[in-house]
Amino acid sequence: MVSISNAESLYGSILHRRSMGLSRLKPDPVDHNLIEWMLDAANWAPSHGDTEPWRFTVFSGEGRASLAELFEKAHDGDSTKDDRARESAHKRAFAAPVWISIGMVPGRKADGSLMMSVDEELMAVACAVQNLHLMASAIGLAGMWHSKGSSVHPAVARGLGLEAPDRLLGFFMCGWPSSDWLSSTRRPLAEKVRWVE
Ligand SMILES: Cc1cc2nc3c(=O)[nH]c(=O)nc-3n(C[C@H](O)[C@H](O)[C@H](O)COP(=O)(O)O)c2cc1C
Repeated sequence: MVSISNAESLYGSILHRRSMGLSRLKPDPVDHNLIEWMLDAANWAPSHGDTEPWRFTVFSGEGRASLAELFEKAHDGDSTKDDRARESAHKRAFAAPVWISIGMVPGRKADGSLMMSVDEELMAVACAVQNLHLMASAIGLAGMWHSKGSSVHPAVARGLGLEAPDRLLGFFMCGWPSSDWLSSTRRPLAEKVRWVE
Protein backbone atom coordinates (compact mmCIF):
# COMPACT_ATOMS: atom_id res chain seq x y z
CA MET A 1 0.00 0.00 0.00
CA VAL A 2 1.34 3.44 -0.90
CA SER A 3 1.51 5.85 2.03
CA ILE A 4 1.47 9.28 0.41
CA SER A 5 2.07 11.14 3.65
CA ASN A 6 5.16 9.02 4.48
CA ALA A 7 6.45 9.47 0.96
CA GLU A 8 5.88 13.23 1.02
CA SER A 9 7.60 13.56 4.35
CA LEU A 10 10.59 11.49 3.17
CA TYR A 11 10.82 13.49 -0.06
CA GLY A 12 10.71 16.71 1.97
CA SER A 13 13.58 15.46 4.14
CA ILE A 14 15.61 14.55 1.07
CA LEU A 15 15.13 18.01 -0.46
CA HIS A 16 15.90 19.71 2.85
CA ARG A 17 19.30 18.00 3.33
CA ARG A 18 22.12 20.42 2.58
CA SER A 19 25.87 20.42 2.83
CA MET A 20 27.02 23.27 5.04
CA GLY A 21 30.72 23.62 5.80
CA LEU A 22 32.78 24.90 8.72
CA SER A 23 32.08 28.59 8.11
CA ARG A 24 28.36 27.95 8.59
CA LEU A 25 28.56 26.20 11.98
CA LYS A 26 27.98 27.80 15.37
CA PRO A 27 30.50 26.81 18.04
CA ASP A 28 27.73 25.71 20.45
CA PRO A 29 27.93 22.08 21.58
CA VAL A 30 25.48 19.52 20.22
CA ASP A 31 23.57 17.20 22.53
CA HIS A 32 25.07 13.71 22.62
CA ASN A 33 21.62 12.11 22.08
CA LEU A 34 21.15 13.93 18.78
CA ILE A 35 24.47 12.63 17.48
CA GLU A 36 23.50 9.12 18.62
CA TRP A 37 20.24 9.46 16.69
CA MET A 38 22.17 10.33 13.53
CA LEU A 39 24.54 7.39 14.09
CA ASP A 40 21.62 5.06 14.68
CA ALA A 41 20.08 6.16 11.36
CA ALA A 42 23.46 5.50 9.70
CA ASN A 43 23.54 2.03 11.22
CA TRP A 44 20.28 1.18 9.40
CA ALA A 45 21.98 1.48 6.00
CA PRO A 46 21.90 -1.54 3.73
CA SER A 47 25.04 -3.57 3.02
CA HIS A 48 25.55 -6.51 0.69
CA GLY A 49 26.15 -9.62 2.78
CA ASP A 50 25.18 -7.69 5.92
CA THR A 51 28.81 -6.70 6.39
CA GLU A 52 27.85 -3.32 7.94
CA PRO A 53 31.26 -1.86 7.05
CA TRP A 54 30.70 1.69 8.38
CA ARG A 55 32.84 2.75 11.35
CA PHE A 56 32.60 6.13 13.05
CA THR A 57 34.65 7.96 15.65
CA VAL A 58 32.98 11.02 17.16
CA PHE A 59 35.15 13.92 18.30
CA SER A 60 33.50 16.67 20.33
CA GLY A 61 34.34 18.96 23.25
CA GLU A 62 37.89 18.46 24.49
CA GLY A 63 38.06 15.24 22.46
CA ARG A 64 38.79 17.52 19.51
CA ALA A 65 42.33 18.00 20.88
CA SER A 66 43.07 14.41 19.85
CA LEU A 67 41.57 15.14 16.44
CA ALA A 68 43.93 18.13 16.17
CA GLU A 69 46.82 15.75 16.91
CA LEU A 70 45.61 13.49 14.13
CA PHE A 71 45.38 16.39 11.68
CA GLU A 72 48.91 17.41 12.68
CA LYS A 73 50.14 13.98 11.66
CA ALA A 74 49.04 14.85 8.14
CA HIS A 75 51.91 17.38 8.14
CA ASP A 76 54.56 15.22 9.84
CA GLY A 77 57.79 15.07 7.93
CA ASP A 78 57.57 18.66 6.75
CA SER A 79 59.49 20.37 9.56
CA THR A 80 59.27 23.81 7.91
CA LYS A 81 55.56 23.75 8.51
CA ASP A 82 55.55 22.35 12.06
CA ASP A 83 54.40 25.38 14.06
CA ARG A 84 51.96 26.63 11.51
CA ALA A 85 50.66 23.12 10.88
CA ARG A 86 50.04 22.59 14.60
CA GLU A 87 48.19 25.86 14.85
CA SER A 88 46.05 25.28 11.77
CA ALA A 89 45.30 21.66 12.77
CA HIS A 90 44.10 22.87 16.17
CA LYS A 91 42.05 25.68 14.64
CA ARG A 92 40.49 23.31 12.15
CA ALA A 93 39.60 20.63 14.71
CA PHE A 94 37.92 23.21 16.94
CA ALA A 95 36.09 24.91 14.02
CA ALA A 96 33.19 22.44 14.29
CA PRO A 97 31.59 21.27 17.53
CA VAL A 98 31.35 17.71 16.20
CA TRP A 99 33.53 15.74 13.81
CA ILE A 100 32.66 12.18 12.84
CA SER A 101 35.29 10.16 11.02
CA ILE A 102 33.91 7.94 8.27
CA GLY A 103 35.67 4.61 8.15
CA MET A 104 35.15 1.55 5.98
CA VAL A 105 36.09 -1.84 7.43
CA PRO A 106 35.23 -4.60 4.96
CA GLY A 107 33.63 -7.82 6.14
CA ARG A 108 36.02 -10.75 6.18
CA LYS A 109 35.61 -14.50 5.93
CA ALA A 110 37.19 -16.85 8.48
CA ASP A 111 40.24 -17.24 6.20
CA GLY A 112 40.76 -13.46 6.17
CA SER A 113 39.60 -12.91 2.60
CA LEU A 114 37.02 -10.23 1.87
CA MET A 115 33.36 -11.23 1.89
CA MET A 116 32.33 -8.61 -0.65
CA SER A 117 34.12 -6.37 -3.13
CA VAL A 118 35.65 -3.15 -1.84
CA ASP A 119 33.32 -1.24 -4.19
CA GLU A 120 30.28 -2.79 -2.52
CA GLU A 121 31.61 -1.94 0.93
CA LEU A 122 32.26 1.67 -0.12
CA MET A 123 28.74 1.96 -1.53
CA ALA A 124 27.30 0.70 1.75
CA VAL A 125 29.25 3.31 3.74
CA ALA A 126 27.96 6.04 1.40
CA CYS A 127 24.42 4.84 2.13
CA ALA A 128 25.16 5.08 5.85
CA VAL A 129 26.51 8.61 5.53
CA GLN A 130 23.45 9.66 3.54
CA ASN A 131 21.23 8.35 6.36
CA LEU A 132 23.35 10.23 8.89
CA HIS A 133 23.22 13.44 6.88
CA LEU A 134 19.46 13.18 6.28
CA MET A 135 18.91 12.75 10.00
CA ALA A 136 21.23 15.68 10.83
CA SER A 137 19.35 17.96 8.43
CA ALA A 138 15.97 16.78 9.73
CA ILE A 139 17.12 17.63 13.27
CA GLY A 140 18.21 21.06 12.01
CA LEU A 141 21.96 20.43 12.26
CA ALA A 142 24.16 21.78 9.51
CA GLY A 143 26.90 19.49 8.29
CA MET A 144 29.00 18.29 5.43
CA TRP A 145 30.96 15.25 4.31
CA HIS A 146 34.55 16.39 3.77
CA SER A 147 36.72 14.03 1.75
CA LYS A 148 39.90 15.89 0.87
CA GLY A 149 43.30 16.74 2.35
CA SER A 150 43.79 15.89 6.01
CA SER A 151 40.27 14.36 6.13
CA VAL A 152 41.53 11.38 4.13
CA HIS A 153 45.27 11.57 4.82
CA PRO A 154 46.90 8.13 5.34
CA ALA A 155 48.49 9.31 8.62
CA VAL A 156 45.07 10.34 9.94
CA ALA A 157 43.64 7.00 8.79
CA ARG A 158 46.46 5.16 10.62
CA GLY A 159 45.82 7.21 13.74
CA LEU A 160 42.19 6.05 13.61
CA GLY A 161 43.27 2.43 13.28
CA LEU A 162 42.19 2.20 9.64
CA GLU A 163 44.89 0.28 7.77
CA ALA A 164 44.40 -1.27 4.31
CA PRO A 165 42.06 -2.76 3.27
CA ASP A 166 40.20 -0.51 5.75
CA ARG A 167 39.74 3.02 4.48
CA LEU A 168 39.18 6.49 5.85
CA LEU A 169 36.57 8.14 3.60
CA GLY A 170 36.60 11.54 5.25
CA PHE A 171 34.79 13.28 8.06
CA PHE A 172 31.26 14.50 8.63
CA MET A 173 31.46 17.78 10.51
CA CYS A 174 28.34 19.28 12.00
CA GLY A 175 26.86 21.82 14.37
CA TRP A 176 23.98 24.22 14.68
CA PRO A 177 23.76 26.51 11.64
CA SER A 178 25.17 30.03 11.98
CA SER A 179 23.65 31.15 8.67
CA ASP A 180 20.35 30.72 6.89
CA TRP A 181 19.70 27.19 5.69
CA LEU A 182 21.07 26.84 2.17
CA SER A 183 19.07 26.05 -0.93
CA SER A 184 20.29 24.15 -3.94
CA THR A 185 19.34 23.04 -7.42
CA ARG A 186 19.93 20.00 -9.56
CA ARG A 187 20.38 19.72 -13.29
CA PRO A 188 17.34 18.19 -14.94
CA LEU A 189 16.71 14.53 -14.23
CA ALA A 190 16.14 13.99 -17.94
CA GLU A 191 19.93 14.45 -18.49
CA LYS A 192 20.62 11.50 -16.26
CA VAL A 193 17.86 9.02 -16.96
CA ARG A 194 17.07 6.91 -19.96
CA TRP A 195 13.81 5.02 -20.00
CA VAL A 196 13.56 1.82 -21.97
CA GLU A 197 9.90 0.80 -22.27
C1 LIG B 1 31.26 11.66 -1.00
C2 LIG B 1 31.16 13.15 -0.86
C3 LIG B 1 32.29 13.87 -0.57
C4 LIG B 1 32.24 15.27 -0.42
N1 LIG B 1 33.39 15.97 -0.15
C5 LIG B 1 33.36 17.30 -0.06
C6 LIG B 1 34.55 18.05 0.21
O1 LIG B 1 35.62 17.48 0.41
N2 LIG B 1 34.46 19.39 0.27
C7 LIG B 1 33.28 20.04 0.08
O2 LIG B 1 33.25 21.27 0.10
N3 LIG B 1 32.12 19.36 -0.15
C8 LIG B 1 32.14 18.01 -0.20
N4 LIG B 1 30.96 17.31 -0.42
C9 LIG B 1 29.69 18.02 -0.45
C10 LIG B 1 29.27 18.36 -1.86
O3 LIG B 1 30.00 19.45 -2.33
C11 LIG B 1 27.76 18.65 -1.86
O4 LIG B 1 27.08 17.46 -1.54
C12 LIG B 1 27.24 19.16 -3.20
O5 LIG B 1 27.75 20.44 -3.47
C13 LIG B 1 25.72 19.23 -3.24
O6 LIG B 1 25.22 20.05 -2.20
P1 LIG B 1 24.14 19.49 -1.17
O7 LIG B 1 24.81 18.36 -0.42
O8 LIG B 1 23.81 20.65 -0.27
O9 LIG B 1 22.97 19.01 -1.93
C14 LIG B 1 31.00 15.94 -0.56
C15 LIG B 1 29.84 15.18 -0.84
C16 LIG B 1 29.92 13.82 -0.98
C17 LIG B 1 28.68 13.02 -1.27
